[in-house]
Amino acid sequence: MTEKTLVLLKPDAVERNLIGNILTEYERNDLKVTDMKLLQASSEMAEEHYVEHKGQPFFNRLVSYLTRSPLVALVLEGEDVVNRVRTLNGTTDPEESGDNTIRALYGLSLSENTVHASDSPESAARERSIWFA
Ligand code: CMP
Repeated sequence: MTEKTLVLLKPDAVERNLIGNILTEYERNDLKVTDMKLLQASSEMAEEHYVEHKGQPFFNRLVSYLTRSPLVALVLEGEDVVNRVRTLNGTTDPEESGDNTIRALYGLSLSENTVHASDSPESAARERSIWFA
């Protein structure tokens, strides 16, 4: 089934000039970019995006990271795209992520793991409404 997912190329990706490299990974795997923007996230946007982690000891660090410089938000579309993008991105911790995954290639740490992707079509719809309001 054709789905949409929401991806963030987080501030460390933009700071290190990795936008093109990461987009290439998605595009050469037949995923279609159907919406994209570079923006400075506000604290409100970051807090809403990570609302499920509110109360976690790392929550404030996540919000500071996402808001420290511009990020790229994009929508990818394709068959089973939610799962496919999560596989391409790899595990949350880059140290444990499989070879050739985006986080193994470019991720810096568990906190600064360079990319985000929605974990379900329902999350994708909620997250799209934050970044593409
Ligand atoms: P992301 O996929 O954007 O979604 C939630 C984020 O929380 C995750 O990437 C990690 O960057 C971060 N995260 C999850 N667990 C931890 C943790 N134990 N310590 C720090 N950051 C975490």
